[in-house]
Amino acid sequence: MTRVLETGPGTRDDPHAQARDARNQPLLLHSMALFRELFAELFDRRSIRTVVEIGVETGQVSACYAELGAEAVHCVEPVPSDEMRAAMAGNDALHLVEGRSPQVLSQLPVADLYVIDGDHNYATVRAELDWILTHAPDALIALHDVLWPCSRRDQYYEPHVLPAAQTHPRTADGPTVWHDEVTPAGFVGLGQFTAAEHAGGEGNGVLTAVEDALAEHGGRRLEIVPAVFGLGVILREDADQDLSDALRPFTSSALLKAMENNRIALYTRVLALQHEAVAHADEADRQVRLLAERHSEAERLRRRCDELRVRHEEELAALRNRHAELQRRFDSERPPKLVRELLRVARGLRRRFRR
Ligand SMILES: C[S@@+](CC[C@H](N)C(=O)[O-])C[C@H]1O[C@@H](n2cnc3c(N)ncnc32)[C@H](O)[C@@H]1O
Repeated sequence: MTRVLETGPGTRDDPHAQARDARNQPLLLHSMALFRELFAELFDRRSIRTVVEIGVETGQVSACYAELGAEAVHCVEPVPSDEMRAAMAGNDALHLVEGRSPQVLSQLPVADLYVIDGDHNYATVRAELDWILTHAPDALIALHDVLWPCSRRDQYYEPHVLPAAQTHPRTADGPTVWHDEVTPAGFVGLGQFTAAEHAGGEGNGVLTAVEDALAEHGGRRLEIVPAVFGLGVILREDADQDLSDALRPFTSSALLKAMENNRIALYTRVLALQHEAVAHADEADRQVRLLAERHSEAERLRRRCDELRVRHEEELAALRNRHAELQRRFDSERPPKLVRELLRVARGLRRRFRR
């Protein structure tokens, strides 16, 4: 469970309490569990007995709704993980719905609160809102990811279940706040989800879906809490002023807005640095492999040199032996000195008699 700041600033005797709290948080806060105090405002002011939670992931937020007073929470998730099943086990208020929104919505009881945090793209969110606004017009609706990065750019967990005409060209690259194009060093889905290559335009993004749905159905407005990717709350124009007032400290907070912008700037900077670090590590690995290859080639050449040196020394020794043997034979076959002297005398006599 994502823990909110629990220990405060620490004390003189325990000065590291806040730092401990900070390092125990995930690097990227993204769960709706962080909005618990905002949901408490809704539960305090409305009778919320039945909740439909779309997009459950780890299940860490589902129990919050029960704790705040819901009798039944229908948790819709296409592929529930073991972690999620474990988080839900033993809580009778939580009902796992292994299915896909918006298709399953008609099979569930009409709810007092719908929490939309499933597939963050225009086609899915628009269809979810159209269904809820038509079949549960009095329900409260909260949606996650109405701000960057999904506000004006589709994200797809399961694009294959959507009509092709309702999706945009997709990429495994992700957005960053540091430039407008997607990048492999950005906020990527790591195989879990992909993003639309281009932001903006029609039929693109969660906020665009909300705007279009509200324009069509009328009588409602969207309030945005500018934190943790943006929480949207859809309120009825004529009946929910008290909720609007209760949420105002959050929805109108310039401080929250500035902190969220700072958070996504810092986080995408961290992503870029991580990407660079991985690229450097890959390059270092490549250099190490190259060095190892060169080292083993040098070793191979050194061994070959040693072999040749040994062979040449053997050949040289053999030649020296042969030379010595020939020298010995030559020496043994040379006429002795006296004979050589007689021959010399004989040659002299022969010359003299010829004359
Ligand atoms: C961002 S996570 C939800 C996080 C969770 N609400 C929280 O705050 O901790 C989105 C989840 O929606 C699920 N999902 C994707 N498409 C869906 C769909 N069509 N209907 C319901 N859930 C969907 C994904 O499998 C993923 O677990």
